[in-house]
Amino acid sequence: MGNKVMEFYDKYGIKEWYRLEESSYSRINYLLHMDFIEKHLKEGMRILDAGCGAGRYSIELAKRGCKVTLFDISSEQLRIAKEKIQEAEIEENIEGFIQGDIRDLSQFKDEEFDMIICYGAPLSYVMENREKAILEFNRVLNKKGLLALSVNNRWGIIKMVLGSRNYDFFERPEYWNIEEVIKTGDLREHEMVSQPPRHFFEGKELEYLLKCNGFKEVFLGGSPCISCGNAEIINDFNTDNRGLETIFKIELETYTKPTMVDNGEFLLAKAKKK
Ligand SMILES: C[S@@+](CC[C@H](N)C(=O)[O-])C[C@H]1O[C@@H](n2cnc3c(N)ncnc32)[C@H](O)[C@@H]1O
Repeated sequence: MGNKVMEFYDKYGIKEWYRLEESSYSRINYLLHMDFIEKHLKEGMRILDAGCGAGRYSIELAKRGCKVTLFDISSEQLRIAKEKIQEAEIEENIEGFIQGDIRDLSQFKDEEFDMIICYGAPLSYVMENREKAILEFNRVLNKKGLLALSVNNRWGIIKMVLGSRNYDFFERPEYWNIEEVIKTGDLREHEMVSQPPRHFFEGKELEYLLKCNGFKEVFLGGSPCISCGNAEIINDFNTDNRGLETIFKIELETYTKPTMVDNGEFLLAKAKKK
């Protein structure tokens, strides 16, 4: 699996850097992900950004005085992240750029980090032995550490396809393997999907995976919930528009409500070590 994901993100290149700022909708996603960890951030804390991509979150965390290690399977994403970090002039808070798979963190010592973020769904690309990644996160996190991750959500993705007016998807369910996706969460390789295979999680499933592999106090969120499936409408608002501000306030109010967490494009989870 690793190679396909690596190849995809090596080719995807700079598009990954723009992903979180290309639209008002993406902006909401970014801000909700930041809000989810905001109160846990402390200057000087050591953070592992696992599946860092082009480094959006690493840069923000380093600007706040955290000591960040960037980790990704794609050497091209790490190269872009390095370039963006130099442009932002925050190298003094960066502890390393390391290539690898989140299921094998042997390059790190036990209990090395105060926080791990694994944002933007790296875990959704892990189709086999995903518990290994959770056990490795557990091992490299210190006793009071926090794990924060986001994965693709099974129901959010259906809302997104509907919102994109992809009528064919619903008219030809066999062709699109809809039955399999809604029953198992697995989206196999498909001639019409450019992304490598992915797993779409449900809230309870992710909570179970974390609890069975050394974590407790699992807290979930959905990003974004109200706006998911409505990207076109959200993007009618400019990023500085009052309307967008109102929508964001509603998202903030709702995104961690238990009834909402399975409604987002991304399913957020944070948890402490048992
Ligand atoms: C959508 S990007 C998210 C990047 C960044 N975390 C963000 O939210 O902006 C997903 C990243 O996960 C990385 N990734 C996927 N599977 C991985 C794995 N098994 N180990 C390490 N990185 C992985 C990809 O190379 C890609 O850079």
